[in-house]
Order: sequence, then C-alpha cells, then structure tokens
Amino acid sequence: MTKKQLTITQPDDWHLHLRDGQALNSVALFTAKQFARAIIMPNLNPPVTTVVRAVEYLDEILAAVEGTDFEPLMTLYLTDNTSPEEIIAARKSCFIKGLKLYPAGATTNSDAGVTDISHCYKTLEEMQKAGLPLLIHGEATSPDIDVFDREKVFIDKTLIPLTQKFPDLKIVFEHITTKEAADFVLQASDKLAATITPQHLLLNRNALFQGGLQPHNYCLPVLKRDTHRQALLKVIRSGSNKFFLGTDSAPHTKHKKESACGCAGIFSAHAAIEIYTSIFEEQGVLDKLEAFASFNGPDFYGLPRNSKTITLVKEDWQVPDEYSLGSDTLVPFLAGQTIHWKMSA
Ligand code: DOR
Ligand code: ZN
Repeated sequence: MTKKQLTITQPDDWHLHLRDGQALNSVALFTAKQFARAIIMPNLNPPVTTVVRAVEYLDEILAAVEGTDFEPLMTLYLTDNTSPEEIIAARKSCFIKGLKLYPAGATTNSDAGVTDISHCYKTLEEMQKAGLPLLIHGEATSPDIDVFDREKVFIDKTLIPLTQKFPDLKIVFEHITTKEAADFVLQASDKLAATITPQHLLLNRNALFQGGLQPHNYCLPVLKRDTHRQALLKVIRSGSNKFFLGTDSAPHTKHKKESACGCAGIFSAHAAIEIYTSIFEEQGVLDKLEAFASFNGPDFYGLPRNSKTITLVKEDWQVPDEYSLGSDTLVPFLAGQTIHWKMSA
C-alpha cells in the first residue's frame, strides 16, 4: 500500500528568529529546507534598528543558507526613536518587509523596544503611507498585569486605539494565543491579520507544569488555558484568510532554558511544517493547510505566492533529544516524541 501523501505550494514562515553568529549557522538550514521565505525577527543584541544594519544581517543569513533558494524577508526593530526617514529608507530598500513592535520589556531582547506607542506616531504615519506592515508582539507589559491577561489588555489599551488612529496601517498581530485575539482579528478590517505558532495550537498551560516545571514549553506569549487553544483551532478549521503560519521558532541553548531564570522561546524549525500538518489532519482540515501555510501570508504582505511545491508523507519519525547550537546544544520542540508526517527530500 502506498503511503498517504500531500503536495502543497511551498510554505513560508511569517515569524522566525534566526539569531546571528554560530547560532544562525546551526539553525538556518532547518528553515531553508522547508520554507521558501521567512520574516526574520530583528531582536538581536543589539537589535536591528536600521536599514544599514539589516543589510549586514541579510548578508550573514544568506551566507548561512548558501546553496539554497531561501529568501530572508528582513524587518527592523521599532524603537521610540525610529525616524520617519528610516521608514522611507526601508521602503526604498525593497527588502525590508515590516517593522517589529516589541513593547519594552515584553520578551527576549525587548529592552530597546517601544516604551509608549505615542512616541512612534510620526513613524507609523510614514509606514501607513509606505504600506509597510507593523508586526506586533501584542502583550501589555505593566508588571501589575497578570501574565495570562497581557494579550487581552494589549488589545484593549493599545491595539484598538492604534487601529482607530491608523486605519490603513497594515498590522500583523503576531503569535496570537487567546480567544479574545482570535475574535478581534476576525472582526477587524482586512488591514489586520495574525500568525499562529504550532505550540499555541498544540499545548495549553498545563504543559508548563506537567510532572514538574517544563522550561522547554516556555515561550512568550505564554501558553494559555485550553479554551483559548480551542478558539485558535476553531479559527484554523474555519479557513479564514486572516491567519497564517508563523512558527516563532526561537532557539536558546539548553543550559539557558534549563536555568534558574530560563529564557522564553521554543525551537520548532526542525519539524515546523510537519507539526502544522499533523495539527490540520487532527482537526480534519488537511485541505485548509495550503492556504494557511502558503497563500494567506504572501497575499497579506502583497508578495507573490511561491511556485515550487513540497510533498509531505504520512510517516512516523522521532524528534531527536537535542540538536547542536553553536558549540552548545538546544532541545527542540517535541524532543523525543513521534511525529506522523515527514517532508520528503
Ligand atoms: O518566546 C519567545 N521567544 N517570544 C518572543 O517574543 C521572543 C522569542 C525569542 O527571541 O527568544
Ligand atoms: Zn518571536
């Protein structure tokens, strides 16, 4: 009997952390093997805040994926001081595809992020004019807000006013985790879309504590209650074109995750499309995978859809316990577990 197979247009990853230096060289090919393009997060240390710096980072990534057709889609890290002139330079560059908004203190390397969105109004005005999307880490950061409520508070306090002030600004609400976010995106204008990670579709917050503290399931925004995960799965089943694939794959060394103050971030690039495929199959909507993974993203960004295809085969394989990360190691998402789909070479 021949194995079950699925051929789809080659997907893109609309939210990816590649890092730089040795770490970049360890992880980049995982993504380049599966995806034609990826939106590259700028939260390096120091962050990528200028077009000049982004060109250097682009070159570094291209060297790491040499021999492949992978196309990095670069972003700039928005700060209180990003000037409207930088936006004009970004638009002219043609290779900058968006600006990333990290509320200051929200997550890894976000210290240089935006302290108050009102500081960015002139810059956002220019982005709106240029058609450059704003990619948002949507969490309120005030320390008195419960960590599980941060996305909802961000929607109410920042995102709604922002969409009212800049109705034509393209916005990607990144890695949504709650029913409130899904509902908000569904009722918003076609200027607003969202990415969804594999971990937020697969796990709820119990996974952080199952049998003891599980640092490798810790990411930001943190996993939520199962009702929220169910809302994200419902969105997937609906086939709405406002949602697309963004892994948020974020490598950290094993020792930085398994530490007294463990870093946020889940590395999923080793099996990204296979994990999404398993989720869509489980939900009975394999026919909706291609739009989510390969059409909705480029359509929103105004980029061409990919012309190549990939084939996935229904075949069990076991995720290794570790991969190397520079001179260290990382523990991948679903380490040691069996995945039921495999991309064929
Ligand atoms: O879990 C996360 N890790 N969330 C982010 O927003 C950043 C990322 C990282 O860079 O490690
Ligand atoms: Zn991220």
